[in-house]
Amino acid sequence: MSYQIAIDGPAGAGKSTIAKAVAKELSFVYVDTGAMYRAMALLCIREGLDKTDEEAVSSSCEKAVVEIKYQDGAQVVFLNGENVNGLIRTQEVGDMASAISVYGRVREKLVRLQQELAKKVDVVMDGRDIASCVLPDADLKIYLDADVSVRAKRRYDELVAKGEKPCLTRIEEEVKERDYRDMHRDISPLVRVPEAMLVDSSYMTIEEVKKCIIDAFKGKTK
Ligand code: DC
Repeated sequence: MSYQIAIDGPAGAGKSTIAKAVAKELSFVYVDTGAMYRAMALLCIREGLDKTDEEAVSSSCEKAVVEIKYQDGAQVVFLNGENVNGLIRTQEVGDMASAISVYGRVREKLVRLQQELAKKVDVVMDGRDIASCVLPDADLKIYLDADVSVRAKRRYDELVAKGEKPCLTRIEEEVKERDYRDMHRDISPLVRVPEAMLVDSSYMTIEEVKKCIIDAFKGKTK
């Protein structure tokens, strides 16, 4: 039996940074499920698809080959054999990912892939539906949250570091829109399952959040 830690939460709560740090400390594999939705989104953008065209988006995504590999301990996403890690972290791709992740056929394909990954190794997996849908029997479930203004500022800083020139007010609006869509979609919306531990990272350091999660995991599996 492998161990599973599920971390869900809204955009910009720090899930990937924390999940990566926790995985490293425990020597688990980190699985970034958002990257898989982003790879599908990149495909849709490249094919010029209308994000509201469920049939076109679903059939393109069903045909695509998405693979997760690990190079020097880091997750690399391949889309039809191409390493797309460097292309999926933009605002445009994130918004498209949020839009197409409402479709059942897109989700089914990626959830299956995520469940396969978690069967083989100990994982820390982050996303929106990990505790509620992908890994319902996870050993530890975390709901990582932060104030919307803090999350917008983090996203802003990330984009600036990548050389983009974003507007903070606009980003805050986009974060709110994304939250609303991710929390209100019909299939597997972002929810805090009752058994998930709530961690508000607004005013905590990465080290503090990491310690809190590792202590909770050790407490549960003692
Ligand atoms: O975590 P992220 O920003 O990389 O995710 C991009 C989008 O993908 C997010 O807005 C919603 C979708 N997503 C999802 O629906 N389910 C997941 N498990 C992960 C991401």
